[in-house]
Amino acid sequence: MITFDNVSKQYEDGTKAVDTLNFTVNKGEFFVVIGPSGCGKTTTMKMVNRLIDPTDGTIRINDQNIKEGDIHTLRWNIGYVLQQIALFPNMTVAENISVVPEMKKWSKEKIKNRVDELLNLVGLEPETYRDRMTNELSGGQQQRVGVARALAADPDILLMDEPFSALDPISREQLQEDIQQLQHKIQKTIVFVTHDMDEALKLGDRICVMKEGKIIQIGTPAELMDTPADPFVTQFLGNRQVAADNKASEKLTVSDVMDRNVNLVNHSALSEKHTISQGESIETAFLRLNEGSVPYLLVKENEEVVGTVSYEDLARKWMKEREAQ
Ligand SMILES: Nc1ncnc2c1ncn2[C@@H]1O[C@H](COP(=O)(O)OP(=O)(O)OP(=O)(O)O)[C@@H](O)[C@H]1O
Ligand SMILES: [Mg+2]
Repeated sequence: MITFDNVSKQYEDGTKAVDTLNFTVNKGEFFVVIGPSGCGKTTTMKMVNRLIDPTDGTIRINDQNIKEGDIHTLRWNIGYVLQQIALFPNMTVAENISVVPEMKKWSKEKIKNRVDELLNLVGLEPETYRDRMTNELSGGQQQRVGVARALAADPDILLMDEPFSALDPISREQLQEDIQQLQHKIQKTIVFVTHDMDEALKLGDRICVMKEGKIIQIGTPAELMDTPADPFVTQFLGNRQVAADNKASEKLTVSDVMDRNVNLVNHSALSEKHTISQGESIETAFLRLNEGSVPYLLVKENEEVVGTVSYEDLARKWMKEREAQ
């Protein structure tokens, strides 16, 4: 779907922001790019919709070199949620979302329906929010409008550059869950930049780890945990890596980490495949959480729900292991 072929970018002042990038993002994939500040994540992202042109190499979308097509068509087909939210402050929520559909000359009626549809999709009640000015919204609500605006013209690709980094942990977690659900519903190809490994592990089908303009490793969360390519990846994985390294942890099972407080949980949202039994290993739990893209699994024993297990439950246990060493 999106292919980088020996792509480099050197800025005019000589800064080599990215260096010989080679990778492919598959159709419908949730592809996370992670790395420390200044490693070239935003530069990589902006080359996809030609806000920045590479100094070397080729980027193709559906086998077409993006330099050869029409730049407006390209951008219309790519939704972009910026690192700093940039809603138009003197416009309403609906006007913000309508910008691209209006450029595409959709009918008023079609735009209005689309705005309401998108507001529902991102969890903002249209009646309440469509005519609000954007500066009257909370940070989390603004981010939601940003996502709605990026999706407005139904692009195939969504670029999201640290979209949740300015938010408090609770709104952030909520939006992470929402974007996961959204991805399941709309099946877009998403390139998502973060420097938070928890976020990457939770959201990514695959994760691309960058350092100083280069790709260090690309793999599924499990591949990164099992076979980190480099000490840098290990370091970036931090606490979580301990579980994979620590043989003792292989014997840890779901029953060691699960939350037995089942009353608080609304089970109806989860299907059968989002369950696990107490005797399974925590690695299996981790993989299943990731495959299912759910915030937690139901722990079942003889058809009965006996608890839940989440990323947080797994992380907490791993942290303890590390302290104990
Ligand atoms: N317009 C520019 N001119 C010169 N250098 C630039 C320009 N934009 C970015 N850079 C440099 O290129 C490198 C990569 O920047 P980039 O914004 O891609 O990093 P990033 O990974 O997105 O960082 P962050 O996590 O802080 O957002 C940095 O060293 C940065 O200073
Ligand atoms: Mg950036």
